[in-house]
Amino acid sequence: MCGIVGYIGGQEAAPILLKGLHRLEYRGYDSAGLALVNQSGDLNVYKCKGKVSDLEDYLMDKDATGTIGIAHTRWATHGIPDNVNAHPHFSRSGKIALIHNGIIENYRVIKDALIANGYTFRSNTDSEVLVNLIEYVRDTHGCSLEEAVRVALKQVVGAYAIAILEKDNPDEIIAARQSSPMVIGIGNGEYFLSSDAASIIDYTNDFVYVKDGEVAIINRHKPLSIVNLDNQPASIDITKLELSISELEKGGYDHFMLKEINEQPRTIFDCIRGRISPETGEVKLSGVTDNREKFINARRIIFVACGTSWHASLIGEHLIEDICRIPVEVEYASEFRYRNPIIRPDDIVIAVSQSGETADTLAAIRLAKEAGAFVYGICNVVGSSIARGTDSGTYIHVGPEIGVASTKAFTGQVTVMAMLALAIGKERGTVSDEYYREVSEGILSLPDKIAEVLREDEHIAGLSKVFTYARNFIYLGRGYNYPAALEGALKLKEISYIHAEGYPAAEMKHGPIALIDAEMPTVVIATGQDTYEKTISNIEEIKARGGRIIALVRKGDTRILGIADKVIEIPEITECLTPILSSIPLQLMAYHIAVCKGRNVDQPRNLAKSVTVE
Ligand code: G6P
Repeated sequence: MCGIVGYIGGQEAAPILLKGLHRLEYRGYDSAGLALVNQSGDLNVYKCKGKVSDLEDYLMDKDATGTIGIAHTRWATHGIPDNVNAHPHFSRSGKIALIHNGIIENYRVIKDALIANGYTFRSNTDSEVLVNLIEYVRDTHGCSLEEAVRVALKQVVGAYAIAILEKDNPDEIIAARQSSPMVIGIGNGEYFLSSDAASIIDYTNDFVYVKDGEVAIINRHKPLSIVNLDNQPASIDITKLELSISELEKGGYDHFMLKEINEQPRTIFDCIRGRISPETGEVKLSGVTDNREKFINARRIIFVACGTSWHASLIGEHLIEDICRIPVEVEYASEFRYRNPIIRPDDIVIAVSQSGETADTLAAIRLAKEAGAFVYGICNVVGSSIARGTDSGTYIHVGPEIGVASTKAFTGQVTVMAMLALAIGKERGTVSDEYYREVSEGILSLPDKIAEVLREDEHIAGLSKVFTYARNFIYLGRGYNYPAALEGALKLKEISYIHAEGYPAAEMKHGPIALIDAEMPTVVIATGQDTYEKTISNIEEIKARGGRIIALVRKGDTRILGIADKVIEIPEITECLTPILSSIPLQLMAYHIAVCKGRNVDQPRNLAKSVTVE
């Protein structure tokens, strides 16, 4: 939520900042702005409602020069998306500009105190309160900006990644972090600052992750300095990151989402590479081998996650209970953290997160650690807060996911969970050699089978057009494919704004069947073998009430072909891996329906990819 970027060095800052903002737009896109100090020492702030491209248009006739600057793309929390609430925010004197990602929870109390001291506010944001608090502290203490930041932040409750620029000190950016991501890129005589290393990877591969409670003093003439709020020096560890820039571009596709859906044969190949031997089918995950005893002795596994990652975790629950015979619970991180959960030292908590920055998931991890549980991460973004904050873990390695609706991360997460289940099951002796082999061969076959599903794109695009009229959809699945139904429904609502619900097929009779009519299509994932006959009965019941059916079936299924209105075939694969294949036509269907409806697929309204506030 909100992206921040900063630059200080010998180059013109604006092009670097704007490029960075474009790459950070997945974090929020309701307004954008930047602040620069030019050669004459003027602190110029330009900001406007809308996307980064609107800011670029707005800057056309402005003086956007300067070799130091900060910039922001916003996902509104306090105050509507408009020009005034856009960042950067000025302090009362106009001498300090600030950008902020996060939420200052006690802003009201601070604002009232500042108002009592004669301050007035232009915006409705919590961020403008913070910049004025900093100025107030500096003026009353007569201290440096850096000290004022430290003193002010001690009074703040909430989450923040902030960057501050001062008119009278055009050689320095002060930045600080608490619970919102921040990374500093080290260049040659220049520094870059961002919410996400991918946005500044064009300029450097050397990154320093700022930690919670730290303040960075980024001076163009000095080595980077980082201190805590008590002014004690913090360690500066440089992490090398390699990222291919082509992964951050659309590569000829109309949308990132479509590119990311189509990348899945390769991303799943990357996800399993080096982890399953193609010859023996043996799975090797260092996170499991290094913590063998923990997994062998685990009494329970608790998944904590949000959104799509939570759906993937539901499939993880099936896989682990099935293969490892360990009881599993799946928790919304946001609920888990606030409900005084029972966590024991022999529990393993698995945090699942594409971004590795989701605020609720991070808080759930902290809780689990405090209770003494072993915390394992399944993340995509290398070096992210969750990846660094867990005891061990497995990256899904699917490359940057930029489309706000998660696609390739979901299939990567489930693939990692399948490998994890096999690795743990082997250590615990709960999986037969035969089944182990069947699942590992199935995982190895995924890239080819996903490519086969993707060849159905034209067929899926065609049938999607037929259903754009619908205002409601129901998605049904059973067993391993119930979470896939939930995920299919989520994809549709996220990007097309059509209301969609996922249900376990047998629950249909307990309520949702009342909704069925010719206006409400039902998507049925009918690939399960054990419940095949029952699913056919569900389809018949819907048809008998005039409902229209889109069915996902195993290749060659002729029975459902005769009953359903539309059919999409899924290649044969062992049951536990079917949700990986069945989720892909549902991603494509959501995509095509959204495009037909003229939606902004990559940046759907009100959403952000990385939810760094509660
Ligand atoms: C947001 C995104 C979803 C994502 C969820 C959890 O809602 O729009 O796509 O599934 O956050 O994010 P995470 O990065 O923790 O997987």
